[in-house]
Amino acid sequence: MQDSLAEITHTRDTIVLYDADAFAGLRRAGRYAAECLDQLADMVAPGVTTRAIDAFVYDFAMRNGIVPATLNYRGYRHSTCTSINHVVCHGIPNDKPLRDGDILNIDVTFVVDGWHGDSSRMYVAGTAKRAAERLIDVTYECLMLGIAAARPGGRLGDIGHAIQTHAEAERCSVVRDFCGHGVGRSFHEAPNVLHYGRPGEGILLKPGMVFTIEPMINLGRPHVKLLSDGWTAVTRDRSLSAQFEHMVGVTETGVEVFTLSPAGRHKPPYGTMPQGGAHGGA
Ligand code: MF3
Ligand code: CO
Ligand code: CO
Repeated sequence: MQDSLAEITHTRDTIVLYDADAFAGLRRAGRYAAECLDQLADMVAPGVTTRAIDAFVYDFAMRNGIVPATLNYRGYRHSTCTSINHVVCHGIPNDKPLRDGDILNIDVTFVVDGWHGDSSRMYVAGTAKRAAERLIDVTYECLMLGIAAARPGGRLGDIGHAIQTHAEAERCSVVRDFCGHGVGRSFHEAPNVLHYGRPGEGILLKPGMVFTIEPMINLGRPHVKLLSDGWTAVTRDRSLSAQFEHMVGVTETGVEVFTLSPAGRHKPPYGTMPQGGAHGGA
C-alpha cells in the first residue's frame, strides 16, 4: 500500500484484534494466495506477458470461487500487480513480453468468504544477472528478518529496524513511500507497517493483530516516483527494486505466517513443482 504518496490508505485508525475464527478465515485466504504464487512460478519465462499472468490469476480465482481484491479496487482494473525491474510496486499488467533476465514481483490478494489473503514474491524470467539475484536474496532475507522480529509485547519499530539494518548492511536501500498494512475484513487497515525504524518504537504488538510485511528494497537510492498512469511506482534512479510480502497474525507466543508456500517455493530459483498438494489444481 501507499504511505506518503497517500493514494491507498485506510480510513479508520482502529487496529482490529482478530479472534481464532478470523485466523481460520485468514489462513484459508492466505493459502489461496500462496498456492496461486506457487503455480505462477511455472509460468514466468521470457516471452510471457504480464497480461497473461494476470489472466492466469483471474482464472485461478474463478476456478476456486474467490475474488481478486485488486479488481476494481480504487479504480485499479486488474487481478495482480506485476512490477518489473525498476518498478517498485503497483506495476500494471500489459502486453509487453518478459525478456531474459527480467525480475518481477507478482502481488496477489484474494477475498475468500470476506477474508483477505495478500502476498507477493519475486520471479525471474530466464536467467537473472548476479546483481539482481543478490537483490532478490537480500529482499527475501529482509522480509524473514522482519517476521522474526515480530512478537507480542514487541513494537512495530522492531520489525522496521530489522529490515532496514539488513538492507543497509548489504548496501541496498529501503523504500519509504510505501508500507505494509493491517489486513483482514478489509484490504488495507491500520496500522501502517513501516519497513524502517527504531527498536522499541511504534505501536505495541498484541495477539490478534494481523498485518502484512512487504519490504521494497532498491539496489540504488530509496526514492520513488509515480508514473502518469497514477499507479506505477518506479525508482527515481532507475535502479532495480525487489519486494516480497507475507501476511502475519500475532499470536500469544509469536506470529503465524498465513501465506507460506505449500510447495516450498519461497524464493527463486523455484525449480519444478512437486506433484500434488495444491487445491487450486494446475
Ligand atoms: N497488494 C498490494 C498490497 O500489498 C496492493 C495493491 S492495490 C492495487 O498492499 F490497487 F494497486 F492493486
Ligand atoms: Co499488502
Ligand atoms: Co500485496
